Amino acid sequence: MKILIVGSGGREHALAWKISQSPRVEKIYCAPGNAGIASLAECVPIRAMEFDALAEFAISHQIDLTVIGMDDPLVGGIVDVFEEKGLRVFGPNAAAAVLEGSKAFSKDLMKKYGIPTAQYETFDDPQEAVRYLEETAKFPIVLKADGLALGKGVLICQTLEEAKDGVRTIMQDKKFGDAGSRMVIEEFMTGREVSVLSFTDGRTILPMTSAQDHKRAGDGDTGLNTGGMGTFSPSPFYTEEIAAFCQEKIFQPTVDAMANEGRPFKGIIFFGLMLTPDGPKVLEYNARFGDPEAQVVLVRMENDIVDVFEACIDTRLDEIDLKFRKEAAVCVVLASDGYPLSYEKGLEIRGLEWFSDQTDSFVFHAGTAFRDGKIVTSGGRVLGVTALGKDLHAARENAYKACDRIDFDNKYYRHDIGKAIDEAE
Ligand code: AMP
Ligand code: GLY
Repeated sequence: MKILIVGSGGREHALAWKISQSPRVEKIYCAPGNAGIASLAECVPIRAMEFDALAEFAISHQIDLTVIGMDDPLVGGIVDVFEEKGLRVFGPNAAAAVLEGSKAFSKDLMKKYGIPTAQYETFDDPQEAVRYLEETAKFPIVLKADGLALGKGVLICQTLEEAKDGVRTIMQDKKFGDAGSRMVIEEFMTGREVSVLSFTDGRTILPMTSAQDHKRAGDGDTGLNTGGMGTFSPSPFYTEEIAAFCQEKIFQPTVDAMANEGRPFKGIIFFGLMLTPDGPKVLEYNARFGDPEAQVVLVRMENDIVDVFEACIDTRLDEIDLKFRKEAAVCVVLASDGYPLSYEKGLEIRGLEWFSDQTDSFVFHAGTAFRDGKIVTSGGRVLGVTALGKDLHAARENAYKACDRIDFDNKYYRHDIGKAIDEAE
């Protein structure tokens, strides 16, 4: 088979790696890809939002299956464009991807179908939002831009003043662009966060193994929110009992609700969950693999992922038995110092060769490029160094040892990825 992957980050590198393990795959293309993906796939200089150019490429290169990694093209309807042209593509169409594309939609869906989530109100008018904050809200409170905002459109406000500033930032200054034309204000929940990615064909849903992200930039969960600074899998807090509850009350009801709304969802649903004192609740849905959750989940997955993609497309996911390795995995993101604000790019990365003959340590590229025959930094999140180990402690030790192999001038990373596992014991 010839496969095309759409995207350019660490998630897409992990996808390319996993797809390359399939004996059914003869050639992988990635648009636009990055310097690491280039070792597994032929990178094609077409951007993820150029749907017609991507579809033309898929036709002219006889691509058998296209896999969409990123949220923007999914929400923008890339799957609809491919399907209209009779191309096989893995991911939800626009009608289904709205599950991630609009927080107001997803909150209303959960309310309508009784899926546990935080209490909320939706606002189109900033004055009404402020009135609600003054008259009804309890603090802390959470403000969310309705649309896609690179995972950054969420503000947790401790006081009324902060929350009023937040309304201004989202709805009037439009810091997150059009994503902020509408806003959700919701109850602040406490508890441990877990990410559960799942495959669904619109009818059956198969959860993958759990993972936990670290969203803040600094050690001890300090500093600004980022796309994710590191992950571990599995989460020791996500017990079998909790998993059974989630399957019955959250996962299957979500798939059934989408089908009932005439928006059958085929692809990945990523459940961002909070394990609250009142039980698991949904923080958010995403319509694609997490980044860097994919980097720890895919290295543990035993199935041929191409079989699973096809089973989702053909609505026969009930035939698949998903299996994950017993070993745990930890991914530490090596970032450019200054991320998520401003940082220098174009710095040479040394030490990547070491990974080429490792079987349990991986380096997934996120923001890298070629320059004068060398691999240089080209983004805030640069690499996701991932390692397996017999348990989470071993995986963590292996991942940090592997991080030491890599060197670039403004290398920055968190030192406490996976530290939470100590509290589980
Ligand atoms: P989201 O993009 O919706 O996942 O939100 C980003 C982060 O904000 C989450 O990972 C949580 O850490 C935090 N967050 C979002 N919603 C809430 C909430 N209702 N209560 C507490 N924290 C939240
Ligand atoms: N790591 C969180 C996300 O991919 O949205």
